[in-house]
Amino acid sequence: MFRILSIAFALLLIIGCKNSEESTVTPSDPSHKWWKEAIIYQIYPRSFKDTDGDGVGDLKGIIEELDYIQSLGVTAVWLNPIYSSPNDDNGYDVSDYRAIMEDFGTMEDFDIMLKGMHERNIKLVMDVVVNHSSDEHEWFKQSRSSRDNPYRDYYHWWPAEKGKPNYRYSLFDEKGDAWRYDSLTNSYYLHYFAVKQPDLNWENPKVRQEVYDIMKFWAEKGVDGFRLDAFQFAAKDTTFPKFPDGFEKNFTEYYAMQGDLHQYLKEMNAEVFSKYNVMSVSEGAGRNFVDAHNLVDEDRKELDMAYAFDGVDIAKPNGYSLDHFKEVFTRWDSAFAKKGWLSIFLSNHDQSRLVSRYGNDSEAFRAPSTKMLNTFILSMRGTPYCYYGDELGMTNIGFDSISQYQDIAAINGYKKVMSQGGDIDAYMKGLKFGSRDNGRTPMQWDASENGGFTEGIPWLPVNDNKTVINVQSQHDDPNSVLNHFRKMTTLRKNFPVLVYGAYELVQKEHHKVYAYTRTTANSKLLVILNFSETPTEFVIPKDLSPVEVLIDNYDQVAMEGNNLALQPYQAIIFEIQK
Ligand code: GLC
Repeated sequence: MFRILSIAFALLLIIGCKNSEESTVTPSDPSHKWWKEAIIYQIYPRSFKDTDGDGVGDLKGIIEELDYIQSLGVTAVWLNPIYSSPNDDNGYDVSDYRAIMEDFGTMEDFDIMLKGMHERNIKLVMDVVVNHSSDEHEWFKQSRSSRDNPYRDYYHWWPAEKGKPNYRYSLFDEKGDAWRYDSLTNSYYLHYFAVKQPDLNWENPKVRQEVYDIMKFWAEKGVDGFRLDAFQFAAKDTTFPKFPDGFEKNFTEYYAMQGDLHQYLKEMNAEVFSKYNVMSVSEGAGRNFVDAHNLVDEDRKELDMAYAFDGVDIAKPNGYSLDHFKEVFTRWDSAFAKKGWLSIFLSNHDQSRLVSRYGNDSEAFRAPSTKMLNTFILSMRGTPYCYYGDELGMTNIGFDSISQYQDIAAINGYKKVMSQGGDIDAYMKGLKFGSRDNGRTPMQWDASENGGFTEGIPWLPVNDNKTVINVQSQHDDPNSVLNHFRKMTTLRKNFPVLVYGAYELVQKEHHKVYAYTRTTANSKLLVILNFSETPTEFVIPKDLSPVEVLIDNYDQVAMEGNNLALQPYQAIIFEIQK
């Protein structure tokens, strides 16, 4: 039988107890970078906190909660777009890149927010949305007005007398067509996303200069980094050749990493990144490892960090296999073991909720499985991105009717399936599991009617489970999901091996447990994650001798010799004797 050791008892057995590791990577080491050591907290401002009762989150709400953000132990915030926007795609359709969206507040609020973050040693990463603008941006208004307007070439136009341009797929268009005919100048314009999001013409050097000037404007204000939205699609072959039959919709393969994209990034690096101490991360990581390395290897002088989607693409409505999960994260780690740097994340504003997709959101297992997933994100090699609300274990809201959705992708996708006579039940089932609105419901601060998010009517309903999942109830509970998250951020900061250490998969063939080591010259940790809802045995390999339990999402580690009896979703990190 297994002997049950409480942590206190286990600590009696340890050889040399310590709360942190002596770092081998000193600040003067050239491989030391703040953005590698960062723990990034992503805030969807629309849903974080509303202070003026209009039902929409605002910058003052973020300012009010800066102490909370700091209490999480995160070191940077990535803010989704806060620029002026008609909100066709919740701010990803910018009408003025140098102004704050009215719903969110003023430039003065922004300055106070940034100062407040910096006072708390929290950096700010801004979203830069420049594959496209809003059709309400002055550039597009000008561009649209006549064929010889000086802004005409800021966008991609196709004169109709040449016939209809070759098909291009649109991700958000209700017909899936990226060309929109505009009778004013008898031409089509290109929009890879919604019809109100015309693609900017990156082949035009003036457009590029405008964007660099905008980025400089924000860098001068003191922002610390940029996330380049949809940027892998920015460069285009402006002859718009026909794509091979059957490949018209193969978005990553045919639409990403085209033309002179790398040149543009080098130019942006020379003009902006190299002149300010800012980090840069691209949304997506190209089509393959070669593209990903070309985007972020240091000697390329393009971006700092890749943000690859293979990890978030694993979860499907009917589940996923842990073998697949391990294979994806291990493959990416190996490809970047020596060069380049990755982001680690399992959720964001384009995905549904962490625990509903990758864990188990039932009452019994929501807490341990969220803690287990946060242990994973915060113990991998790469910069962790934690999405607001996942530190509490917020879950999918799971709407049943299309009228409940707000997201343009969901609504236009519905229209498309209807007009094509597709399987609408399957579509709705897919939305219930995977819709972006699942991940955008308001932050749950307390158990009150609107979860403490607003005194007005929230723009998207607050999940009913705010009564049990909320900051207030978890704040002082030492065993809460929230406090486990805080313990994990502390551990990551105290153990640089979690940032810089080599990753090695342990017991690849175990179908329920994901285990790996993280190793530097003077430190070694073993992470053991039970991804299943059943108790599971795990044998620690003989060459790994645990000396201390650094964190555990249960209050007991049941271990006899090298045999561990893991509870459902148990997550343990051991320090290993070197
Ligand atoms: C990116 C954003 C997404 C947005 C799209 C168009 O994928 O993450 O939210 O809808 O670009 O800007």
